[in-house]
Amino acid sequence: MNTVSMDIPVYLADRKQKIDAYLDSLKLKTTEPYSILYDAAAFALAGGKRLRPILALATCDMLGGHLEQAIAPVCSLELVHTYSLIHDDLPCMDNDDYRRGRPTLHRQFPEAIALLAGDYLLTRAFELIASSPGLTAEQRIELTHILSSRAGGHGMIGGQVMDILAEGHPIDLPKLSEIHRRKTGDLITAAIEFGAVIAHANPDERKHLTQFGAEVGLAFQIIDDVIDVTASVEKHGKATSTDASKGKITYVQLMGIDKAKQTAEDHLHRGLEILRKVRKETFPLSAIAEKLVYRNI
Ligand code: IPE
Ligand code: IPE
Ligand code: MG
Ligand code: MG
Ligand code: MG
Repeated sequence: MNTVSMDIPVYLADRKQKIDAYLDSLKLKTTEPYSILYDAAAFALAGGKRLRPILALATCDMLGGHLEQAIAPVCSLELVHTYSLIHDDLPCMDNDDYRRGRPTLHRQFPEAIALLAGDYLLTRAFELIASSPGLTAEQRIELTHILSSRAGGHGMIGGQVMDILAEGHPIDLPKLSEIHRRKTGDLITAAIEFGAVIAHANPDERKHLTQFGAEVGLAFQIIDDVIDVTASVEKHGKATSTDASKGKITYVQLMGIDKAKQTAEDHLHRGLEILRKVRKETFPLSAIAEKLVYRNI
């Protein structure tokens, strides 16, 4: 498919449809006594924007990689992301009732089942990578390493721990930026790195793409903070104005809505500048990154 000539909405719809179809094919049904696990996982997976696998596919497209090799591993990113949302919403974490336009998983299913469905999605993600057809053993190891480290203690989970510990405490901008880079930026960076590994990027391309991912990932979470105070619940699909009520310091609280938006745009533009160092056609990846920052849901 000639991606350069495609409209962004067409590209996004096409990739989302392929990702949704693949995720659908993973649905398990069983008559075993634990079948509720799969119902819960399917409930949580429905309705996401699929941004992380889309970013991975766009990166892979940019470097001339193949969709058939990419689809399974990029969907593992959505499984990890969805698990992180399930756990993020739990009463012991952000205690939210509404996600992706529906009740949060622990509101729809018993809380213990929600917790276990998160555990299931996390482990299933690595199973997907290990059994990805069309990848070399080296690529599978590399993807396993990227996902486990970026979603792990030094990455997303470390960021979530810092986020929880910071509740109710005054924190400054460098600290908040570190939390955002870890809790959200690292999985978005992993998505870009997935595209790079699947399409055999050279070390220079990989370095620039990683830096691009980090800037876009931070911008994305800053906009999430903005949307928390500006969007309607219907559009957003999750409750709004929740951060302040939980005593969370956000970019909006530290600098106001306009400056927070400007800061996100600055990080986006820094990222796009770095992306141009990869001497390839950057569209549609660059346009998707812009859309992530100039979004209202
Ligand atoms: C929400 O991510 C959580 C953050 C890391 C900010 P998304 O905005 O990508 O949520 P879904 O996947 O579309 O529900
Ligand atoms: C979520 O950040 C980050 C992760 C799930 C790792 P938030 O707590 O701000 O995300 P939302 O607003 O609940 O989607
Ligand atoms: Mg949170
Ligand atoms: Mg939350
Ligand atoms: Mg938020």
